[in-house]
Amino acid sequence: MSDPSPESRPRSGGVTIAPSLLAADFTRLGAEVAAIEAAGADWLHLDVMDGHFVPNISFGPAVIRALRPHTRLPFDVHLMIAPVDPYLTAFAEAGAAHISIHPEAGPHLHRSLQAIRALGCKAGVVLDPATPIESILWVRDLIDLVMVMTVNPGFGGQAFLASQLPKIAALRRMIDEGGRPIALEVDGGITAATARAAREAGADTLVAGTAIFGALDYAAAIAALRARPQGGTA
Ligand code: DX5
Ligand code: ZN
Repeated sequence: MSDPSPESRPRSGGVTIAPSLLAADFTRLGAEVAAIEAAGADWLHLDVMDGHFVPNISFGPAVIRALRPHTRLPFDVHLMIAPVDPYLTAFAEAGAAHISIHPEAGPHLHRSLQAIRALGCKAGVVLDPATPIESILWVRDLIDLVMVMTVNPGFGGQAFLASQLPKIAALRRMIDEGGRPIALEVDGGITAATARAAREAGADTLVAGTAIFGALDYAAAIAALRARPQGGTA
């Protein structure tokens, strides 16, 4: 699809909430995905880990393909694999609406982003805590989202790295100056409190695993993440 559905566009005004399936009950993934949609999620975040690029293994395109009929939510696929290029087609065919990659996962970021777009998906770049925002400076014309890791990638349930808040703010400025719509997503350690901090810094999209799937009431957990930052208008 070269014209992604309106649902996959970042929301104007409010915050986009992308629950991470990594924290779901893996024995009943189809039901979990349906439940998260009913609870008001905007996107489904899918963390793909290979035990090589990151020190953990999760799931691959077969699981994503199997989930596709269980929800209408756009699939926000976060690839933590290296090499990444040989697998882009498999994730697009499995139903990814967005594919986000780390600059460290391959030698030619620009080429990888071109490949993602040629497959009809929105393209994203993920910045590890140590990765500078300048990594996206010369590929801004190719990206639809940039994701700031506020933990080291590989595991759910880690503590939010407040050191990344100025980076989120700097990206906000870079995006606003660039003039193209690029979603600014934050991934890792999101709770109601850190969600507020991330939004105040300029994030418009939040990934949350533990804070949503670890809660008894998914709808209440999502609503808590949507609560307005103090003094904010979003
Ligand atoms: C970590 C993943 C995150 C993770 C977030 O590598 O990219 O998406 O699932 O989990 P929480 O919200 O529990 O930090
Ligand atoms: Zn993720």
